[in-house]
Amino acid sequence: MYTLKEGIDFYIEPMQNKKVTIFDTTLRDGEQTPGVSLTSTQKLEIAHQLDKLGVDIIEAGFPISSEGDKESVKSISNAGLDTIVCGLARVLKKDIDACFESDVGLVHTFVPTSEVQRIYTIKKSQEEVIQLAVEAVQYIKDHGLKCMFSAMDATRTDPAYLIEVFKAVQEAGCDIINVPDTVGIMVPSAMYRQIKDIAAEITIPIDVHCHNDFGLAVANSLMAVEAGASQVQVTINGIGERAGNADLSQTVMSLTSIYGVKTNIRTEYLLETSKMIENYTGIRLPPNTPVVGQNAFSHESGIHSQGVLEKSDTFEPGIMTPEMVGHRRRIVLGKHTGKHAVKQSLESAGIKTNEKQLDEIVFRIKEIANKGKQITDADLYAVASAVLGKASSDEEFIKLKEVSVMTGNILTPTAVVKADIDGKEIISAKTGVGPVDAALKAVRDILGESNHFKLQDFRIDAITGGADALADVYIGLENEKGRIVTARSANPDIVMASVEALVNAMNLLYKKEEKS
Ligand code: KIV
Ligand code: ZN
Repeated sequence: MYTLKEGIDFYIEPMQNKKVTIFDTTLRDGEQTPGVSLTSTQKLEIAHQLDKLGVDIIEAGFPISSEGDKESVKSISNAGLDTIVCGLARVLKKDIDACFESDVGLVHTFVPTSEVQRIYTIKKSQEEVIQLAVEAVQYIKDHGLKCMFSAMDATRTDPAYLIEVFKAVQEAGCDIINVPDTVGIMVPSAMYRQIKDIAAEITIPIDVHCHNDFGLAVANSLMAVEAGASQVQVTINGIGERAGNADLSQTVMSLTSIYGVKTNIRTEYLLETSKMIENYTGIRLPPNTPVVGQNAFSHESGIHSQGVLEKSDTFEPGIMTPEMVGHRRRIVLGKHTGKHAVKQSLESAGIKTNEKQLDEIVFRIKEIANKGKQITDADLYAVASAVLGKASSDEEFIKLKEVSVMTGNILTPTAVVKADIDGKEIISAKTGVGPVDAALKAVRDILGESNHFKLQDFRIDAITGGADALADVYIGLENEKGRIVTARSANPDIVMASVEALVNAMNLLYKKEEKS
């Protein structure tokens, strides 16, 4: 039994003395995600972010695949990053040369070793595969570069033959071997046994590359580390071929928080890195994604939120806090909400209530939530204002007067917004990629210099079907102090719904700021 944290004894093999190298393949396997294509500029920005995050190795691409990929890998290699930049190559001289021309510090060369891939893809015998692998490793080492060798589809390869391949490349001077679970068929116990068997025969470091076809990529990577692997291949948000690869955040947080393993990852940048990949790939994470998902540290139920407000360890792992991963804790109001959470939300907005008023507010909030509606801060303050007998419009800092938009196939979408701010009339005009974008930019602009908030969330739902569907817009804003407010609006006009939701949220944010 291992004491994970005071008061938490755990059935786990602790590994506090172990350090694991993090090999990130977001820019290579991650870019092979169906539908994802990154520009060279985006790849360079991602590489800088991965460097800031502290990954040890970035697999920047597959230089032989195109001139563009080669140029992109080269620009990352020469970007002055602390991390080692790696390029992928088949066991072919032309592939390896393309890596050399891309100035990488590490060449990752691979060849299929399983029978099915050997016969149906490269059509080579077992002996030919060993010869190609050895020649590739020697070629890389002769050029003075570090070399990693992957036996593609290792987990479906005859185990005795696999050891033979690994021994041959080790003999040829290879620096590290990789065990790819190419089609994600492993389970944790099998992974443990396979890595143990390989580690008993091989002396150079072992790396694993787990695919997520059965949702086990992270678990398999952890088992590989328990069994002796010292490097794991991961991607941001778990992107990659088919169901993707092991997710970096989940793998790193499990390794460090649960096992006590050391890595070089600066975990406080996990959320911002995940958001960057979400934006550039267009692949949105489900809210319940571990570690970096919107709900990872959100609490709704009355008992849970009350416990968390008293002591966060009650309904969170404790060994992983939102601050550790650059996230924040949110108490979400809904049908399970308790009095404690409502009181906290109101107090954080400077709204004081007596017991009777609070009971009434909680009752009304639950009534709304029971109708299936998500409760935003705007809903809460509207209910509170009603209960406290205040007219909420009296408190509006921004009063929207006019909105007009022009759009079309020969026009740049343009919006003009007129509003009263603290009694002064302000007009702003902006262009955008579409009418909603132009209108939201114009609304933001009416605040001039003081518009410091970030659009943290923006969702549009069509409430009913058909072209006349009511657009329900939900917005989350965050100011520079990390305060988040949420608001919504519903309107048959999608531009107006978006504008009203943004103005509602801005009114909440500025009202909250004044009172703090
Ligand atoms: O999944 C795989 O086998 C790969 C190799 C190139 C390592 O991505
Ligand atoms: Zn892969």
